[in-house]
Amino acid sequence: MSRIAYVAGRYLPHGQASVHIEDRGYQFADGVYEVVAVSAGKRVDDDRHFERLERSLGELEIPMPMSRHALAIVMDEVLRRNRVRDGIIYLQVTRGRAPRDHAWSGDSVPVLTVTARRQPPPNEIMASRGVRVITLKDRRWKRNDIKSVNLLANVMGKSRARAAGAYEAWLIDDDDLVTEGTSTTAWIVSADGRLVTRPLDEAILGGVTRAALVDIAQQAGITLEERPFSRAEALAAREAFLTSTTAHVLAIISIDGQKIGDGQPGPVTTDLLDRYRRHVAGNKIS
Ligand code: PDD
Repeated sequence: MSRIAYVAGRYLPHGQASVHIEDRGYQFADGVYEVVAVSAGKRVDDDRHFERLERSLGELEIPMPMSRHALAIVMDEVLRRNRVRDGIIYLQVTRGRAPRDHAWSGDSVPVLTVTARRQPPPNEIMASRGVRVITLKDRRWKRNDIKSVNLLANVMGKSRARAAGAYEAWLIDDDDLVTEGTSTTAWIVSADGRLVTRPLDEAILGGVTRAALVDIAQQAGITLEERPFSRAEALAAREAFLTSTTAHVLAIISIDGQKIGDGQPGPVTTDLLDRYRRHVAGNKIS
């Protein structure tokens, strides 16, 4: 079955799906994206994805290409045409096509592209064993709260992690504080047993999984400290884990080769993964 993509108003086979070479997304990374999980045919946490998309676009003064309702119809149609029931939707909005000039003119039309692919939920073996991370200097720009397609520092960081045999790189700011992973949110259970993640600021993306877990922790009566934590605190933590739409809640067993806790997924991480899975199973729009 050939894959079908939505490109600026049309559903096309992947091989024919393309945007113009003077699309500002291509020339300036002038655009934003979302990755939405699909579980049993339903989009997971889609309100939060819509909110973040609108916020990212708003910060860049790019208009929404269509209403939420219309966007939902396009996403579901892409899922249907690709027969995806468990997987991800990738959605990108660029400022559109214009003769190359750094300043935007305001008359380009935003270009929406939507693709979907089958992807099983995170691998059980990886979830039960946990993963390794390395740390790297955070070399990104200063507006990481915007889910921009400018991901050069992220792809370099992730590739360095993979080359080092690690799953992810945690990025460290000038104050030696952990910002986030290259494509995931960073969490620890501190040496004194507190669940900690960095507060939302311009240094990190407001993860949809993060937001879900904040609610889950609150409902479960688990106290969460939203405060920055340093690399040293992470190394001394009882547990560490990362979250994202695609990774769910994934235990970290070592950072820069140093064992975290006893080097196995800890009880808080395992409990949160369990609760998050239940959230995914129960939180489906009809
Ligand atoms: N990444 N931080 C960064 C820099 C990210 O790119 C992501 C998501 C997250 C987690 O956000 P969420 O929980 O909404 O997935 C945090 C997506 C999955 C990606 O780029 O593929």
